[in-house]
Amino acid sequence: MKVIIYPGSFDPITNGHLDVIERASKMCEHLIVSIIYNPNKTPLFTLEERFRQVKGAVEGYSNVTVETFTGLLAEYAQQKQAMGIVKGLRAISDFEYEFQMALMNRKLCPGIETIFLMTSNEYSFLSSSIVKEVARFGGCIKGLVPENVRKEVINKFSN
Ligand code: PNS
Repeated sequence: MKVIIYPGSFDPITNGHLDVIERASKMCEHLIVSIIYNPNKTPLFTLEERFRQVKGAVEGYSNVTVETFTGLLAEYAQQKQAMGIVKGLRAISDFEYEFQMALMNRKLCPGIETIFLMTSNEYSFLSSSIVKEVARFGGCIKGLVPENVRKEVINKFSN
């Protein structure tokens, strides 16, 4: 079975991520959206919250599942017998870091390809960080994140 991994922090998942999920799900038999647990970072949402949010956002896609992982992505992808890792690219500024990670992941695990999907125009400005920044100061985030996530982001900053 052709498995592809879509890794990320998803803190929170945005409509830009969902766009990548929709397109990547058509390229494989099974897409695993893999949420990283990074003990060195303090995300806005806990791993459990992010897992629930992403699960809710992808429930319409029959070949997409959601998992969490920690440690090296290349090792995790190998365990999952994935043929590839998919990443979204928004701008040239994303490229340098993504290129470095892709080459390191290839060195760690030569059989796994990194596949880059160019962002759709409408999401080229969108990131989890900018959504949090706007929400923190009471700005409108409608249309930027899935509806099941929007209220949770707003609630987080209203407490
Ligand atoms: O959504 P993000 O925060 O941009 O995702 C970054 C992620 C999770 C893809 C990246 O940090 C990662 O792959 N972490 C796993 C640790 C690892 O394998 N590091 C070496 C990469 S070369």
